[in-house]
Amino acid sequence: GHGYIEAVVGPMYSGKSEELIRRLKRAKIAKQEVIVFKPCIDNRYSKEDVVSHSGISIRAIAINHTEEIHKYITGETQVVGIDEVQFFDEGIVDVALELADKGIRVIAAGLDLDFKAEPFGPVPELLARAEFVDKLQAVCVKCGAPATRTQRLINKEPARYDDPIILVGATESYEARCRKCHRIKK
Ligand code: ADP
Ligand code: TMP
Ligand code: ZN
Repeated sequence: GHGYIEAVVGPMYSGKSEELIRRLKRAKIAKQEVIVFKPCIDNRYSKEDVVSHSGISIRAIAINHTEEIHKYITGETQVVGIDEVQFFDEGIVDVALELADKGIRVIAAGLDLDFKAEPFGPVPELLARAEFVDKLQAVCVKCGAPATRTQRLINKEPARYDDPIILVGATESYEARCRKCHRIKK
Protein backbone atom coordinates (compact mmCIF):
# COMPACT_ATOMS: atom_id res chain seq x y z
CA GLY A 1 0.00 0.00 0.00
CA HIS A 2 0.86 3.66 -0.07
CA GLY A 3 2.13 4.96 3.25
CA TYR A 4 1.27 8.32 4.71
CA ILE A 5 0.91 10.15 8.02
CA GLU A 6 -2.40 11.35 9.43
CA ALA A 7 -2.20 13.73 12.40
CA VAL A 8 -5.19 14.29 14.70
CA VAL A 9 -4.64 17.16 17.13
CA GLY A 10 -6.54 19.53 19.40
CA PRO A 11 -7.01 20.29 23.09
CA MET A 12 -8.06 17.77 25.72
CA TYR A 13 -11.65 16.44 25.33
CA SER A 14 -11.72 17.36 21.62
CA GLY A 15 -12.24 13.72 20.63
CA LYS A 16 -8.73 12.82 19.45
CA SER A 17 -8.78 9.37 21.04
CA GLU A 18 -12.33 8.70 19.79
CA GLU A 19 -11.30 9.69 16.26
CA LEU A 20 -8.12 7.58 16.43
CA ILE A 21 -10.11 4.58 17.70
CA ARG A 22 -12.80 5.11 15.02
CA ARG A 23 -10.21 5.06 12.23
CA LEU A 24 -8.39 2.04 13.67
CA LYS A 25 -11.61 0.04 14.15
CA ARG A 26 -12.60 0.73 10.54
CA ALA A 27 -9.16 -0.47 9.39
CA LYS A 28 -9.74 -3.68 11.37
CA ILE A 29 -13.16 -4.11 9.72
CA ALA A 30 -11.28 -3.84 6.40
CA LYS A 31 -9.16 -6.77 7.68
CA GLN A 32 -6.00 -4.67 7.83
CA GLU A 33 -3.20 -5.51 10.27
CA VAL A 34 -3.31 -2.78 12.93
CA ILE A 35 -0.95 -1.99 15.84
CA VAL A 36 -1.53 0.76 18.39
CA PHE A 37 1.06 2.41 20.65
CA LYS A 38 0.87 4.77 23.59
CA PRO A 39 3.50 6.12 25.99
CA CYS A 40 3.83 4.29 29.34
CA ILE A 41 3.49 7.64 31.14
CA ASP A 42 -0.25 7.79 30.34
CA ASN A 43 -1.80 5.21 32.68
CA ARG A 44 -4.90 7.28 33.60
CA TYR A 45 -7.66 4.91 32.52
CA SER A 46 -5.67 1.81 31.60
CA LYS A 47 -2.09 0.59 31.31
CA GLU A 48 -2.59 -1.31 28.05
CA ASP A 49 -5.53 0.32 26.27
CA VAL A 50 -6.15 3.62 24.53
CA VAL A 51 -9.29 4.85 26.33
CA SER A 52 -11.32 7.95 25.46
CA HIS A 53 -12.89 10.26 28.05
CA SER A 54 -16.23 8.82 26.94
CA GLY A 55 -15.07 5.27 27.69
CA ILE A 56 -14.47 3.66 24.29
CA SER A 57 -11.19 1.81 23.96
CA ILE A 58 -8.82 -0.22 21.81
CA ARG A 59 -5.97 -2.53 22.79
CA ALA A 60 -2.54 -0.85 22.67
CA ILE A 61 1.12 -1.48 23.45
CA ALA A 62 2.58 0.86 26.07
CA ILE A 63 6.15 1.87 25.26
CA ASN A 64 8.82 4.00 26.95
CA HIS A 65 10.95 4.92 23.91
CA THR A 66 10.07 5.59 20.29
CA GLU A 67 12.64 3.01 19.06
CA GLU A 68 10.61 0.20 20.66
CA ILE A 69 8.01 0.61 17.91
CA HIS A 70 10.32 -1.04 15.36
CA LYS A 71 10.42 -4.38 17.18
CA TYR A 72 6.63 -4.76 16.90
CA ILE A 73 6.41 -3.93 13.18
CA THR A 74 6.31 -6.93 10.85
CA GLY A 75 5.97 -7.34 7.10
CA GLU A 76 2.24 -7.74 7.71
CA THR A 77 1.72 -4.41 9.50
CA GLN A 78 -0.52 -2.07 7.49
CA VAL A 79 -1.75 0.53 9.97
CA VAL A 80 0.02 2.02 13.02
CA GLY A 81 -1.87 4.13 15.57
CA ILE A 82 -0.10 6.32 18.11
CA ASP A 83 -1.94 8.12 20.91
CA GLU A 84 -0.61 10.87 23.23
CA VAL A 85 2.10 11.57 20.67
CA GLN A 86 3.05 14.81 22.49
CA PHE A 87 4.72 12.73 25.24
CA PHE A 88 7.25 11.12 22.88
CA ASP A 89 10.65 12.60 22.02
CA GLU A 90 11.40 14.13 18.59
CA GLY A 91 12.43 10.65 17.41
CA ILE A 92 8.76 9.79 16.98
CA VAL A 93 8.68 11.94 13.83
CA ASP A 94 11.50 9.93 12.22
CA VAL A 95 9.79 6.67 13.17
CA ALA A 96 6.51 7.87 11.62
CA LEU A 97 8.34 8.92 8.44
CA GLU A 98 10.16 5.56 8.18
CA LEU A 99 6.92 3.64 8.61
CA ALA A 100 5.13 5.78 6.02
CA ASP A 101 8.06 5.30 3.60
CA LYS A 102 7.64 1.54 4.06
CA GLY A 103 4.01 1.81 2.94
CA ILE A 104 2.36 1.89 6.35
CA ARG A 105 -0.57 4.20 7.21
CA VAL A 106 0.42 6.05 10.38
CA ILE A 107 -2.29 7.76 12.44
CA ALA A 108 -0.91 9.90 15.28
CA ALA A 109 -3.12 11.71 17.81
CA GLY A 110 -2.05 14.21 20.45
CA LEU A 111 -2.14 17.68 21.93
CA ASP A 112 -0.98 20.44 19.59
CA LEU A 113 -0.64 22.88 22.52
CA ASP A 114 0.37 22.57 26.17
CA PHE A 115 -1.48 24.29 29.04
CA LYS A 116 0.36 27.54 28.18
CA ALA A 117 -0.97 27.29 24.61
CA GLU A 118 2.55 26.69 23.32
CA PRO A 119 3.39 23.98 20.73
CA PHE A 120 3.82 20.62 22.48
CA GLY A 121 7.04 18.56 22.01
CA PRO A 122 7.33 16.78 18.64
CA VAL A 123 3.79 17.68 17.49
CA PRO A 124 4.59 20.83 15.46
CA GLU A 125 7.20 18.90 13.43
CA LEU A 126 4.75 16.04 12.98
CA LEU A 127 2.06 18.44 11.74
CA ALA A 128 4.45 19.85 9.16
CA ARG A 129 5.42 16.37 7.94
CA ALA A 130 1.95 14.78 7.90
CA GLU A 131 0.01 14.34 4.66
CA PHE A 132 -3.30 14.83 6.46
CA VAL A 133 -4.06 17.01 9.47
CA ASP A 134 -7.28 17.27 11.47
CA LYS A 135 -7.45 19.89 14.18
CA LEU A 136 -10.39 19.05 16.46
CA GLN A 137 -12.13 21.36 18.91
CA ALA A 138 -13.74 20.61 22.26
CA VAL A 139 -16.48 22.71 23.91
CA CYS A 140 -15.37 25.57 26.18
CA VAL A 141 -16.68 24.75 29.66
CA LYS A 142 -16.91 28.50 30.47
CA CYS A 143 -18.82 29.90 27.48
CA GLY A 144 -19.76 27.04 25.17
CA ALA A 145 -17.67 28.30 22.25
CA PRO A 146 -15.42 25.89 20.34
CA ALA A 147 -12.42 25.17 22.59
CA THR A 148 -8.93 25.18 21.07
CA ARG A 149 -7.00 25.24 24.35
CA THR A 150 -6.53 23.24 27.54
CA GLN A 151 -6.84 25.02 30.89
CA ARG A 152 -4.71 23.52 33.69
CA LEU A 153 -6.11 24.12 37.16
CA ILE A 154 -4.13 23.71 40.39
CA ASN A 155 -6.46 23.88 43.43
CA LYS A 156 -9.14 25.28 41.07
CA GLU A 157 -6.80 28.20 40.12
CA PRO A 158 -5.14 28.72 36.71
CA ALA A 159 -1.69 27.08 36.66
CA ARG A 160 1.42 29.24 36.69
CA TYR A 161 3.52 29.90 33.60
CA ASP A 162 6.57 28.17 35.16
CA ASP A 163 4.68 24.95 36.00
CA PRO A 164 6.23 21.77 34.50
CA ILE A 165 4.90 20.94 31.03
CA ILE A 166 4.06 17.32 31.86
CA LEU A 167 1.31 16.60 34.38
CA VAL A 168 -0.81 13.54 33.62
CA GLY A 169 -4.44 14.08 34.56
CA ALA A 170 -8.04 14.53 33.49
CA THR A 171 -11.02 16.51 34.80
CA GLU A 172 -9.46 17.14 38.25
CA SER A 173 -6.68 19.20 36.59
CA TYR A 174 -7.81 20.13 33.09
CA GLU A 175 -10.68 21.85 31.27
CA ALA A 176 -11.33 22.60 27.62
CA ARG A 177 -11.49 26.36 26.98
CA CYS A 178 -11.59 28.83 24.11
CA ARG A 179 -8.90 31.48 23.53
CA LYS A 180 -10.94 34.11 25.41
CA CYS A 181 -11.57 32.00 28.54
CA HIS A 182 -8.07 30.45 28.74
CA ARG A 183 -5.87 31.74 31.61
CA ILE A 184 -2.21 31.42 32.66
CA LYS A 185 -0.83 32.90 35.88
CA LYS A 186 2.35 34.89 35.11
P1 ADP B 1 -9.23 13.66 23.65
O1 ADP B 1 -8.48 12.40 23.27
O2 ADP B 1 -9.11 14.74 22.60
O3 ADP B 1 -8.89 14.16 25.03
P2 ADP B 1 -11.50 11.87 23.90
O4 ADP B 1 -11.71 11.25 22.56
O5 ADP B 1 -10.79 11.05 24.94
O6 ADP B 1 -10.78 13.31 23.69
O7 ADP B 1 -12.88 12.29 24.56
C1 ADP B 1 -13.86 13.04 23.87
C2 ADP B 1 -15.12 13.00 24.71
O8 ADP B 1 -14.95 13.77 25.88
C3 ADP B 1 -16.36 13.60 24.07
O9 ADP B 1 -17.00 12.72 23.17
C4 ADP B 1 -17.24 13.89 25.29
O10 ADP B 1 -17.94 12.73 25.65
C5 ADP B 1 -16.22 14.13 26.41
N1 ADP B 1 -16.11 15.52 26.87
C6 ADP B 1 -15.93 15.88 28.16
N2 ADP B 1 -15.81 17.22 28.28
C7 ADP B 1 -15.91 17.74 27.03
C8 ADP B 1 -15.83 19.08 26.48
N3 ADP B 1 -15.62 20.15 27.25
N4 ADP B 1 -15.96 19.22 25.15
C9 ADP B 1 -16.19 18.15 24.37
N5 ADP B 1 -16.26 16.87 24.82
C10 ADP B 1 -16.12 16.66 26.13
P1 TMP C 1 -5.89 13.77 26.29
O1 TMP C 1 -5.54 14.78 25.23
O2 TMP C 1 -5.94 12.37 25.76
O3 TMP C 1 -7.12 14.13 27.04
O4 TMP C 1 -4.72 13.72 27.38
C1 TMP C 1 -3.71 14.67 27.48
C2 TMP C 1 -2.72 14.28 28.58
O5 TMP C 1 -1.68 15.27 28.59
C3 TMP C 1 -3.30 14.27 30.00
O6 TMP C 1 -2.71 13.20 30.75
C4 TMP C 1 -2.83 15.58 30.59
C5 TMP C 1 -1.50 15.80 29.90
N1 TMP C 1 -1.09 17.21 29.73
C6 TMP C 1 0.19 17.58 30.12
O7 TMP C 1 0.98 16.75 30.59
N2 TMP C 1 0.59 18.88 29.95
C7 TMP C 1 -0.23 19.84 29.42
O8 TMP C 1 0.20 21.00 29.28
C8 TMP C 1 -1.56 19.44 29.01
C9 TMP C 1 -2.48 20.46 28.40
C10 TMP C 1 -1.94 18.11 29.19
ZN1 ZN D 1 -14.88 30.27 26.36
